[in-house]
Amino acid sequence: MSRKISLPPCPGNPATLPMGSDKPWLAPLAGYSDLPFRLLCREYGASVCVTEMVSAKGLVYGSPGTADLLASLPEDQPLVVQLFGAEADFLRRAVAMLREAGYGWFDLNIGCSVPKVRKQGAGAAMLGNVDNILTVARAMLSEAGPGRVGFKLRLGLSHDQPVKGGLKALALSLENLGAGWLTLHPRTAQQGFGGQAHWQAIHELAACLHIPLLASGDLFTAEDGLRCLAETGATGLMYARGAMQNPAIFSAHLALCRGESPSFPEHSALHAMILRHMELARQHCTGKAALWKMRSVVPRYVRALPGVRDLRQRLCRCTDWQGLTDALSEFLLAAACENPTSKRI
Ligand SMILES: Cc1cc2nc3c(=O)[nH]c(=O)nc-3n(C[C@H](O)[C@H](O)[C@H](O)COP(=O)(O)O)c2cc1C
Repeated sequence: MSRKISLPPCPGNPATLPMGSDKPWLAPLAGYSDLPFRLLCREYGASVCVTEMVSAKGLVYGSPGTADLLASLPEDQPLVVQLFGAEADFLRRAVAMLREAGYGWFDLNIGCSVPKVRKQGAGAAMLGNVDNILTVARAMLSEAGPGRVGFKLRLGLSHDQPVKGGLKALALSLENLGAGWLTLHPRTAQQGFGGQAHWQAIHELAACLHIPLLASGDLFTAEDGLRCLAETGATGLMYARGAMQNPAIFSAHLALCRGESPSFPEHSALHAMILRHMELARQHCTGKAALWKMRSVVPRYVRALPGVRDLRQRLCRCTDWQGLTDALSEFLLAAACENPTSKRI
């Protein structure tokens, strides 16, 4: 049963997307790359942000919650909407709806390995059917326009089930169809996040493409990012878990690009960053959902400090923002007292 969905408008999407080694992107992160987190990352220097993955079918059928994933603001630009789905007609209709609401840049998820997505033949499951990837790509590009869709790939289903015809041939076909850029997370779907990202595969793909290639995979620090760019020749990169753990990874990246040493994070900077994330969450999310989410986000930011397990338990009992703020301040004060000679984390 289809419901009419009211999409939030997406004002001010730009004519081009920033690409390059000094233009770090925030990767699509289901459950994390929401509007408050994107705004936070932009304040630290993220050049482009990608939404959480959005179901094309959910969008077309007006599933509850889908529109929330698309909440945006003029200062949340440039923005790429990531879609998932395996049926060309749904992807085409989803892009048409988004274009009408003002969104201008799209990405197709061809890498998600969670069973819920793979069972629909979407995400990484698409790597088992190259012809369908190309059919979907044609449908999205016909609606979005050439250059306005990117494709985020993995190496294949497993080492025993590589992409039919080879990843390189698939990448070149997408380029020929008018893809704006490609992203490679060089692991197989079977690997999930295990093992090491195979950056050599990024190097090989970058060498044969004429459109930009973005690197993803094991970029936990800005130093990792710069090393990956140097070793692979990728046009640019996107930070995923590195940004989840430390949104200041973007300012560190930009400092390294300028030839400067990034400043070491201090307790006070960490405290300010977390308070800012809370402020953005309170501003841009309604109801208690933002508070529940921040209860799990805060411990991730301070995971390297002693006592984080106790903090997690205390936060679980917090039912208002004041409680959360107090628990954080007391935790950081205790951590600073425990290590009074260093303000660094
Ligand atoms: C919590 C989480 C959620 C993710 N959600 C998405 C997603 O919605 N779409 C997508 O294409 N990739 C998603 N990814 C994959 C990342 O975008 C990225 O490609 C991957 O984490 C490898 O980069 P990293 O090793 O630097 O974290 C997700 C990863 C994590 C950890």
